[in-house]
Amino acid sequence: MSLTIEVVRTVPTTAAAVGVPVGTSGAVPKSLGLSRAALTANGFEGKPGQTLVVPAADGPALIAVGIGKPADLTENGLRSAAASFARAAGKRAALATSLADLDGVDPVGAAKAVVEGVTLANYRFVGLKNDKTGSPATSLALVVRSARTAGAKRGAEQGAVTAGAATLARDLANTPPAYMTARILADKAVEIATAAGLGVEVFNKDQLQAMGCGGIVGVNAGSTEPPRMVRLTYIPANATGHVVLVGKGVTYDSGGISLKPSDASHASMKMDMSGAAAVLATLGALPALGCATAVTGYLMCTDNMPSGSALKLGDVLTMRNGKTVEIHNTDAEGRLILADGLSLGAESKPDAMVDICTLTGAVLSALGDRMAGVLGNNQALIDQVRAAGTRTDEPTWQLPLAKEYRKLLDSHVADMRNIGGPLAGTITASLFLDEFTNDVPWAHIDMAGTMKMDGDEGWLAKGATGYGTRLLIDLVTKFTPFS
Ligand code: BES
Ligand code: MN
Ligand code: ZN
Repeated sequence: MSLTIEVVRTVPTTAAAVGVPVGTSGAVPKSLGLSRAALTANGFEGKPGQTLVVPAADGPALIAVGIGKPADLTENGLRSAAASFARAAGKRAALATSLADLDGVDPVGAAKAVVEGVTLANYRFVGLKNDKTGSPATSLALVVRSARTAGAKRGAEQGAVTAGAATLARDLANTPPAYMTARILADKAVEIATAAGLGVEVFNKDQLQAMGCGGIVGVNAGSTEPPRMVRLTYIPANATGHVVLVGKGVTYDSGGISLKPSDASHASMKMDMSGAAAVLATLGALPALGCATAVTGYLMCTDNMPSGSALKLGDVLTMRNGKTVEIHNTDAEGRLILADGLSLGAESKPDAMVDICTLTGAVLSALGDRMAGVLGNNQALIDQVRAAGTRTDEPTWQLPLAKEYRKLLDSHVADMRNIGGPLAGTITASLFLDEFTNDVPWAHIDMAGTMKMDGDEGWLAKGATGYGTRLLIDLVTKFTPFS
């Protein structure tokens, strides 16, 4: 059930939990009815992430929500504080808070962040449970002074759109592979595009073959499920630039004949379409946000299966841009499907291309599960991607596109092979992708590490994270073409 959001002047009488912001210094709001000494005695100092539920004989539960040092408050801090409030509210359905009313953060950004924090912390995946209770909170009232009402309303609307998009990406990635095949994902894309007023085209296996997309057709060779490529287009009047987004949509990555071991990591490979989910959710959000940049999205959808017809080691594929690739590991499938997407994207000569994908286990080893790797051929674009990730609290870290490692991809029989050696796997995967960008300014986001969480934490919830969705929305809505 989705969250009903309203911006009000006073706490609604229906509220079941009221989040009262408290800093590590400064006055404690009178509404809490407790002194700072009393809060401290109960172990609550106002630090970020701290909450204290104040028992009440009647009326709503008052929840002190730590915001840290008031002067240091940011939108990211507010998003996290709002998430802590939502978690502390437990099963209560009607929430109210004045978190968006604090000085120091403008009302638009504050309301957006608070709505995002509550919505994302409140997320539950109930798709296949008989108990559809799901998310505990059903309403959120943002209590703000009248001078902040107009801004807060705008921010709340934006936050509902961005958090709704991230929720959609989570739902798609949490869905088991039999319920999220390439055909189903493409059908979903058509449904979402139609509702949002986007252009949408779906390409089937014969069409992909005819277009010379040997990468996606090759990866699909072992499957009984046909592949799909979806092209989504958002073209505003008087567009100020054009960005192409390409998402890896591997609906299940068994590894192919280079079969993965049956471990926990393998079991999460239903989420190997998280990049495509982020691109789809991003495009779906752009009309409502009035984005001024034209955006084209490519969803490259197939599963990666072993069978008698599967891709073999030593096979050579010819990609959309004519380059040939010798297969040395069928588990390095993401780069093969992205190659076709990037080749097609580059043909339209956009101002920039960004791909997002769960590409390498190596990025998880290098950067862990809290930041994605970013590489590319254009520093100005990489900087814009990283700045967007900082604003949305979806952190990134840049790795070098080290050309000295390109020779690791050399092949005896084709233009390149699909894997490098055992070292620098994220970099060699990126050098592979670079062969298909035709010098269009390009950034690559490897989100293999950030695609899922093992438990709830702040606005992140157990399971698929929806990583990259809000980052991409922020990036394209603020995109400035460069020369
Ligand atoms: N989908 C995986 C990468 C992945 C690993 C995503 C862990 C999320 C969590 C990708 O297709 C893959 O299998 N990559 C291989 C590449 C290798 C064969 C060069 C890897 O990282 O092991
Ligand atoms: Mn793989
Ligand atoms: Zn994969």
